Amino acid sequence: MSKPIFEARDVSVTFNVGRGRNKSQVHALKKVSLDVNEGEIVGLVGESGSGKSTLARVAIGLQKQNSGELFYAGQALPKVRTLEDRRKMQMIFQDPYSSLDPRMSVKQAIFELLDTHNVLPKEKRLDRCKELLSLVKLPESLLDSRPYAMSGGQRQRVAIARALSLNPQFLIADEAVSALDVSVQASIINLLSDLRDSLKLSILFISHDLAIVRLLCDRVNVINLGEIVESSPTLSLFDNPQHAYTRQLISAVPKLDAIVRNAN
Ligand SMILES: Nc1ncnc2c1ncn2[C@@H]1O[C@H](COP(=O)(O)OP(=O)(O)O)[C@@H](O)[C@H]1O
Ligand SMILES: [Mg+2]
Repeated sequence: MSKPIFEARDVSVTFNVGRGRNKSQVHALKKVSLDVNEGEIVGLVGESGSGKSTLARVAIGLQKQNSGELFYAGQALPKVRTLEDRRKMQMIFQDPYSSLDPRMSVKQAIFELLDTHNVLPKEKRLDRCKELLSLVKLPESLLDSRPYAMSGGQRQRVAIARALSLNPQFLIADEAVSALDVSVQASIINLLSDLRDSLKLSILFISHDLAIVRLLCDRVNVINLGEIVESSPTLSLFDNPQHAYTRQLISAVPKLDAIVRNAN
């Protein structure tokens, strides 16, 4: 059995919304527990508004939980993260513009992160950039390009390269391929799968798209209205869904239905 690299235990998050008499609470996460083992790609799938991004933000330290605990390699993560904590895990977003400053070239974006964390002497930074571009299968000629001059797929590769620059062991991908064309989605999925193998990365892969989760993930957690309703190895989730909500999600994906039928 491999060891857990990341664990969430009974994490709850409540948002206060509205003012005065319209005040109410949204229970975005209700005692959510999940874990990701070393070298594993674990899916978190659910409809829009089910709490996926809230869990990602809690995991990375951008959002405080009301209760519950998080562990990295068996150690409790503090609510206020140190720089060292932040190096251990990185996030990739749906829209690379939210992680890439449009004014910065690829090289500058990576330098910025390396400098903030002060992990590499200045004279070694350029070689590290080239190494990272080769990891994400981009040409070195893009080093001086800015995000607007690249395709969506290239931008997402740059965001992945930047996320990898500090050698994290754990990535959280929040709808990281959802905005891309289908053929580009496939190439980014292949890249994440290759990186898992070559860097022994662990990935929490968040998506509303079951068909994509099925392609990439070893295990899948299904979240509905802030609660994990099912957590199963990918094959058994699709062959033998345990929860009514999972069955509903599976049947709501027509292309997936066709795939399943063709496989039988
Ligand atoms: N900062 C916030 N303030 C108030 N409500 C929020 C906030 N962030 C998320 N929510 C609410 O929490 C629920 C879960 O949202 P989210 O985690 O973004 O879901 P998902 O990523 O699955 O679409 C939704 O009802 C959303 O409106
Ligand atoms: Mg989201």
